[in-house]
Amino acid sequence: MSGDPVTDAGRFAILISGRGSNMLSLVNAAQAGRIPALPAVVISNVAAAPGLAAASDLGVPTAVVDHRTSANREEHDGKVLEVLAEHGADLVCLAGYMRLLSPDFIGAYAGRILNIHPSLLPAFPGLHAQRQAMEHGVKISGCTVHFVDEQPDHGPIVAQAAVPVQDDDDEDLLAARILEAEHRLYPEALRRYYLGHLVVSGRRVRIQEPDDE
Ligand code: GRF
Repeated sequence: MSGDPVTDAGRFAILISGRGSNMLSLVNAAQAGRIPALPAVVISNVAAAPGLAAASDLGVPTAVVDHRTSANREEHDGKVLEVLAEHGADLVCLAGYMRLLSPDFIGAYAGRILNIHPSLLPAFPGLHAQRQAMEHGVKISGCTVHFVDEQPDHGPIVAQAAVPVQDDDDEDLLAARILEAEHRLYPEALRRYYLGHLVVSGRRVRIQEPDDE
């Protein structure tokens, strides 16, 4: 600790593969002072990800680690870990990152990886969660921010927001409504993380503010 509030601030990395709207919600919130931490780097496994240019435009360092240049998942994740170390990242935020993480990666950032998923987990894990919700006929779906463990879309749940499914929805309309909720939920979860309000006990994550017991 240097005692310098800027250099002592938390430094989060964001991993993306595409559009990056959740990434932008986190960067915007941090730059507006709503998250007490700095966006250290945005990393994409896809060079053409539109989110990369958007991050650069906001002055956030970016990196591409193309998974196709590695022989296997472990090698690719090792390269991502190197970039994270170069940028001093203390937390990894997955935001539309379309890769599973190796056990080594998860171990290196144990308890320090967050993900956002567009359903109320444990319902509809995996790809096309909004389509799954539509096809199942649920009346309420939503989004979930959770810590990442070895099973996809499975770790301890930090926060959820419910979103109604309307009778005339299609997958795109529902996805857009859920996305609005995602853009509120993820920055708020990150704010709580960096304020030290998240207390993890097994699968349970409690919000404990300093005045609480
Ligand atoms: C979001 O729906 C997120 O929940 C899911 O992937 C999508 C990414 O969208 N994990 P964006 O790239 O953040 O716009």
